[in-house]
Amino acid sequence: MLTLSMNTQTILAGMSIGLFVYYVIKRMRYRLPPGPWCIPLVGHYKIYSSPEIHVKIAKLAKEYGPIVRLSAGPQTWVVLNDINSVLEAMVKRKADFAGRPHFASGDMFTEGGKDIALANYSASWKFHRKIAGKALRHYLQGDLLENMIQDNMNKFLDKMAEEKGPFVFKEYVDLMVFHQLYTICFGEKRPVDDPEVKEFIKLDNDLSEKFGAGFFEDIFPYLKNIFTTAKWKVFLVLSEEVLNILRKKFKEHKETFQPGVNRDFIDSMLIAKQEAKDEGDEAVLEILDDTHLVQTISDIFFAGVDTTRFTMDWFVYFMTRFPEFQEKCQEEIDRVVGPHQPSMKDRSKLDYTEACLFESMRLSNVLGLGVPHMTICDSQIGGYDVPKGTTVLINFWALHHDPKQWKDPEQFDPHRFLDENGKMKPIKPESWLPFSAGRRVCLGETLAKPEILLMCANLLKRFEISLPEGVKPNLEYHMQGFGVELPSDYKIVVKERSG
Ligand code: HEM
Repeated sequence: MLTLSMNTQTILAGMSIGLFVYYVIKRMRYRLPPGPWCIPLVGHYKIYSSPEIHVKIAKLAKEYGPIVRLSAGPQTWVVLNDINSVLEAMVKRKADFAGRPHFASGDMFTEGGKDIALANYSASWKFHRKIAGKALRHYLQGDLLENMIQDNMNKFLDKMAEEKGPFVFKEYVDLMVFHQLYTICFGEKRPVDDPEVKEFIKLDNDLSEKFGAGFFEDIFPYLKNIFTTAKWKVFLVLSEEVLNILRKKFKEHKETFQPGVNRDFIDSMLIAKQEAKDEGDEAVLEILDDTHLVQTISDIFFAGVDTTRFTMDWFVYFMTRFPEFQEKCQEEIDRVVGPHQPSMKDRSKLDYTEACLFESMRLSNVLGLGVPHMTICDSQIGGYDVPKGTTVLINFWALHHDPKQWKDPEQFDPHRFLDENGKMKPIKPESWLPFSAGRRVCLGETLAKPEILLMCANLLKRFEISLPEGVKPNLEYHMQGFGVELPSDYKIVVKERSG
């Protein structure tokens, strides 16, 4: 017994010395960015387990500078907290920072990184990003997107008009955005109360509310096979349910696909596959298998749904808190659009409304610390070394609240985006970066900006939105996982406008 315990002690002591030597050698080889001390292997638990992680890291940046190094379990994270470090890493260093780290829940949901958003930097990722980008551009041609949005919005605005008292706006925005993505991805226009869409919203809400903060298994993946948390088990069931819905939609499309006819985003994927078949391109066909294609659809659906609905929810939240801005948007919409419904051609003249949307995107934090990047080679930022395989995060909140870049950063002020003639400034403020930058910049940016603006303009054209009588405006929000801020479930009342 004594020998056994001596042996265990010797092994543990050996392992600790080994780890210490490894740590010292690693430190000596690289000039790593600075960061606070932590317990080795556990890391900065109080920071990475906190929903307010973005604010905590921004505070550390005041002490350590804009590039902060942290440990999450055995992983090293480098967090970028100002625009200069972000542009240096993501743009100046080309593809150095364009990788994605593996993490257990991401690998699980993307069937081993077969999607775009969580796939590592590779030829396959580039190809899938290219065909998905081409498919999205299809919606920007002619009046396809505009018709889709107008039809969809009318359905829900009519339903909203039936509300006699205060109601939770979030429930409507969820429906509007899900139905919109149903049309884009699956070519389906479903009735307002459709049970399938409602069930899908519930699944997505469960996934993002319960699991947005990540998993123990993400930080300590090697413990996954020894000890599985209850949260992880539920996640496996829910993610399989979600993927099965998408697989079913994909199968139905495959069975009814007619070459040359493009009904929706899934058809665009099938057309890309057909083209590869016609060209006999075996290498491309190999990476265009059904799993990859379903994963691309999943990315467009989920990357598009949550960001869009949270952004619109924030916009309406600010409009109810600041009725004076709402009124100015409505004056502009009435002047530009007249008696018609806002359309794409009005977009370039809706400067004030767009400035309010951009300002609400600055002040809200719908993506927290964004999607983690990873260095694909040894690189540098701000004079520090960043070794290959390091997880790199962008603190969008810090960029959007940086007092060096924004006067009174906590104030809602759309004029930051407008010139002296009330037009959108031709160059947006540098530190406004909700869609990120560089090789991994949001693939849906060109679709999301007009889509959300048009949805907001349609809403404000039809209704005056206010808080229920007696409810005082406040700026409360709740955290949903990894630094994501969402407005608390507020209620609004709507009054039809005559404009
Ligand atoms: C307000 C709306 C949106 C915001 C704020 C937003 C923001 C972002 C951000 C910050 C990233 C991570 C970039 C990085 O890794 O540095 C991202 C990635 C991505 N977004 Fe968006 N997004 C929005 C809407 C959309 C929409 C509507 C779509 C699709 C229709 C979309 C598709 C994607 C995809 C596919 C990626 C992964 C790109 C890659 O890894 O190569 N997004 N988005």
